[in-house]
Amino acid sequence: MYAIITSSPNTDGLTAACGKAALRGIENSGGTGQIIDLCREKIESCLTCEDGWGECIRENRCVIDDCLPMLQETLKEAEGIFLITPVYFGQPSEHMKYFCDRFRRCEAFRKEKSSVAGKKINLVAAAGGSGNGTVSCLSELETWCRHVSAVPFERIGITRYNRDQMLKFIEWAGADMVASGTLKNSGGSVIPLRPK
Ligand SMILES: Cc1cc2nc3c(=O)[nH]c(=O)nc-3n(C[C@H](O)[C@H](O)[C@H](O)COP(=O)(O)O)c2cc1C
Repeated sequence: MYAIITSSPNTDGLTAACGKAALRGIENSGGTGQIIDLCREKIESCLTCEDGWGECIRENRCVIDDCLPMLQETLKEAEGIFLITPVYFGQPSEHMKYFCDRFRRCEAFRKEKSSVAGKKINLVAAAGGSGNGTVSCLSELETWCRHVSAVPFERIGITRYNRDQMLKFIEWAGADMVASGTLKNSGGSVIPLRPK
C-alpha cells in the first residue's frame, strides 16, 4: 500500500489533482494507493506539553485524540509515501504543518525505528498563485524527511503555469515509486541513495 497525504481545504483544486495523478500512477504500476486528506481528518496543532517535551519523546505518541495514531500506523505499513501540500506563504499548509510537527516529535528520536525510516517520500508543493515559495515549501518538507529518517525521493514543484506537464510527471513518479521498489537498509542504517 502506498499512502498519499494531501492537505488542501479545496477538494477540486491543484492539490487534489496532484493526489489523483499520484494514485493513477501507483495503480498503473500495479500498486494500491490510499489518499488521506488531512483537511477531512481531525488533526490539531502541538500543545508543547510540560516543558516542551511530553509523551511524544517518552512514548512516541501524542496526548491529543485525533488522526495522528492512524497516520503513524498507516505510514508504518506504507511501501512509499507522497506528501502533497498547497503552498501558503512559501510554506506547507497549516494542516500539513500540524501533521509534520507532531509526527516528527513522536518519530524523530526513534531513528531507524521511525515508522518511515528508509521509506521513499515524494514531495509535492502545489503553488497556485505566483509560484513563489515553491522551493522554500519543498525545502521544509525535505528537512522533515531527514528528521524522521525517511528518504526524500522526488521534489516536485507544480504551478498553474506547468500544471499539465507536472501532473503527468507526478503520475510517472507514482508509477516509478512502485516499479523501483523499496530501498534496502544496511545494518540498520538507511542508505540515502537513489537506486539505479
Ligand atoms: C493563505 C494562502 C497563501 C498562499 N501563498 C502562496 C504562495 O506563497 N505562493 C503561491 O504561489 N501561491 C500561494 N497561494 C495560492 C495557493 O498556493 C493556491 O491557491 C493553490 O492552488 C492551493 O491549492 P489548491 O488549489 O489545492 O487549493 C496561497 C493561498 C493561500 C490561501
